Amino acid sequence: MAVIGGTGLVGRHTVDALRAQGHDPVPVSRTTGVDVTTGAGLDEALDGVGAVIDSLSTEVREPAEAERFFAASTENLLAAEQRAGVGHHVVLSIVGIDRVEGNAHYAGKRVQEAMVQDGAIPWSIVAATQFYDFAAQVVGWTRVDGTAVIPPLLMRPCAVPDVAAVLVEVAVGEPLGRTIEVAGPDNHDLVDMARRTLAVRGDAVRLIASWRDQPFNVEMAGEVLLPGDDARVTPMNFETWLEYEAVKG
Ligand SMILES: NC(=O)c1ccc[n+]([C@@H]2O[C@H](COP(=O)([O-])OP(=O)(O)OC[C@H]3O[C@@H](n4cnc5c(N)ncnc54)[C@H](OP(=O)(O)O)[C@@H]3O)[C@@H](O)[C@H]2O)c1
Repeated sequence: MAVIGGTGLVGRHTVDALRAQGHDPVPVSRTTGVDVTTGAGLDEALDGVGAVIDSLSTEVREPAEAERFFAASTENLLAAEQRAGVGHHVVLSIVGIDRVEGNAHYAGKRVQEAMVQDGAIPWSIVAATQFYDFAAQVVGWTRVDGTAVIPPLLMRPCAVPDVAAVLVEVAVGEPLGRTIEVAGPDNHDLVDMARRTLAVRGDAVRLIASWRDQPFNVEMAGEVLLPGDDARVTPMNFETWLEYEAVKG
């Protein structure tokens, strides 16, 4: 099993979950000597691999750049998988990407999903809602001189280790040939999540709830980020996640 982006937030947990189940996963990233946008090192990394979990990401902010990143990486991955005889390509995506046109990352993810669905490798797509870590990430992006802007997004977030567990479960099974949605147990708004996360971290940053001066478009308002009724519900709630955050310090 190979985990693309295996040194990232989701990828690290996925590698750990695979190891805990007795697998010998190959983490793939530039840190481990592989650049999937050029394909350098990919054939060696996938030698002997039966299934691939793609948890790659990029922080590019322009739609065309994100589309180029996910197109190049997916094309290189699928071609290398075909050469290596990989039988299952699992990609981690995001709930609601088809309902939000103006988000650059989502534009890239749509290209990634379409290429996987049209590709020759049997596939499964796991579309997760936002992670509990997302509120603090947004604070990191918008923070200026002790103040951060947070858009009032409604979501049903989930814990990264729970998403990693679903990715592993799907990857060891037969290819689904369809998308399954994964979400946490409760709805939350991002401003409240940010306040509570920063409180347990002891971070006194001042938060401003606004659609201005932050990277998300108002088309993400309302219920567009919520999963469908048949979403797989992951076990950890936000309160339990906050307790782990408090312990981490
Ligand atoms: N954030 C959310 O709330 C959320 C919700 C649902 C789904 N998702 C999806 O989850 C996925 C993973 O997100 P994440 O937060 O775990 O990302 P992350 O922490 O930023 O990790 C990204 C990984 O990709 C690797 N990478 C980047 N460019 C690369 C390249 N050119 N070649 C090889 N490896 C490369 C990075 O390693 P190196 O830098 O060492 O190369 C890293 O291991 C994303 O696709 C995202 O769309 C996110």
